[in-house]
Amino acid sequence: MGVIIVLVLFILLMIFCVVVLWGAPYVPSKPSDVARAFDELYQIGPDDLLVDIGSGDGLVLRAAARRGARAVGYELNPVLVLLSRWFNRRYGGVHVRLANYWRVTVPPRTTVIYTFGESRDIEKMADWAEHQATLLGHRLYFISYGFQLKRPALRSYQAHYLYQIDPLQPPEQTV
Ligand SMILES: C[S@@+](CC[C@H](N)C(=O)[O-])C[C@H]1O[C@@H](n2cnc3c(N)ncnc32)[C@H](O)[C@@H]1O
Repeated sequence: MGVIIVLVLFILLMIFCVVVLWGAPYVPSKPSDVARAFDELYQIGPDDLLVDIGSGDGLVLRAAARRGARAVGYELNPVLVLLSRWFNRRYGGVHVRLANYWRVTVPPRTTVIYTFGESRDIEKMADWAEHQATLLGHRLYFISYGFQLKRPALRSYQAHYLYQIDPLQPPEQTV
C-alpha cells in the first residue's frame, strides 16, 4: 500500500515537472491582484470572452466569470484540468480544455488573452497572440502578469500589464 502511495505521488510530481518543457510551471496568480486588474486595468464584463493560456487551477477564469464574462482555459496538466473543472463547476460560461496552448486556435469571440507565463516565453506568447488576432481578424487585448513585453503597454497596474494586439496586415498582392 505504501509503495502505491509513493508511486502515485511520484507520478503526480512528474506531471507537474514535465510541463515546464512546454511553458511556465504551476504558480497561481495572486487572487487579489487579479481582482484589482479586472477592476482597474481591464474592466472585464459580459461582452468579453477571456482565454487563459496555462489556466492552472482556474482562478483567473473564475474571476472573469464572476464579472459576467465567458472564459476558456487551456491547461496541459491533467490534474489541474480536473481540479479547475471542479472549482469552476458552478460557472456555466467557463470551459477548461486539456491542451497545449501553442497548438490551439482561440474561440472566434475571444476579446482578451491572459497569461502568467515566464520570461523565456513571454515575447513568443505575444507573437502567438498576434497570430491569433490575425486568424480571428480582430483586435485582442493581452494581459501579462509579472512579465513586461518589449513593446509599450497600454497601461499597467501593479504586476499586470495590458497590451493591445492588432491583426497583422496581409502582405500586399503584386499584380
Ligand atoms: C504560472 S501558472 C499560471 C496559472 C494561472 N493562469 C494563474 O494565473 O493562476 C502556468 C500554468 O501554465 C500551464 N502550462 C505551461 N505550459 C503550458 C502549455 N504549453 N499549454 C498549456 N498549459 C501550460 C502550467 O501547467 C501552469 O498551470
